[in-house]
Amino acid sequence: MRRPMVAGNWKMHGTRAGVAELLEGLNNMPMSSEVEVAVFPSALHVAQVIDGLEGSGIAVGAQNSAIQSEQGALTGEVAPSQLAETGCKLVLVGHSERRQIIGESEEVLQQKFAAAQACGLKPVLCVGETLEEREAGKTLEVVGRQLSSIIEAFGVAAFANAVVAYEPVWAIGTGLTASPQQAQDVHAAIRAQFATKDAEVAANLQLLYGGSVKAANAAELFGMPDIDGGLIGGASLNADEFGAICRAAGN
Ligand code: PGA
Repeated sequence: MRRPMVAGNWKMHGTRAGVAELLEGLNNMPMSSEVEVAVFPSALHVAQVIDGLEGSGIAVGAQNSAIQSEQGALTGEVAPSQLAETGCKLVLVGHSERRQIIGESEEVLQQKFAAAQACGLKPVLCVGETLEEREAGKTLEVVGRQLSSIIEAFGVAAFANAVVAYEPVWAIGTGLTASPQQAQDVHAAIRAQFATKDAEVAANLQLLYGGSVKAANAAELFGMPDIDGGLIGGASLNADEFGAICRAAGN
């Protein structure tokens, strides 16, 4: 059985004081043991959040990590080994903001995925199509290609220790959400892509949906058979809202 998971991507938000307030809310949030909960603060706040969530059962992840696993001469980057030593458990790889705005290539994402796993961090690989690609009928082709890039490099077995998040770019931060059926269709295709290589990996893979998930639409999305939870941006900055989304995943 796949355990539901809800992950909060705080993006480039937060001050020390704001993070402290959010931590207080998260620590007081009623938790369901059924649901795996994780938050991804900015690199600057990772240590503060790990300390602040100790004993809460909420895992902490990083939004990015370096292409090489060990520390070294790579100005401005954070090594996955440093993140792991600090207490991070997960790392986002291939978020559309990094693919599109920072310009991360498939080759860079392959390196980041492997470096993270080499240090025991679980990558959350983000995939998704733009509006233009959806309108051109290319959604499954684009998502399939983004997944194949990692599968061909490391094999499907690598996904026994990874999570995949489907995030249509047009739904991120826009208030537009994929309908539960639109999301389910892509999730089912993703799982089928894995199933052609390894039925067990496919059946156990946690597939998250991301893109304007809120408490008001979470239950309907998470009710779909291949949607195992969500990657939440804006709504994860409010502990009450995030808590409600986590509870929706447990129902
Ligand atoms: P959003 O962001 O929930 O604000 O749309 C999701 C994400 O980018 O992970």
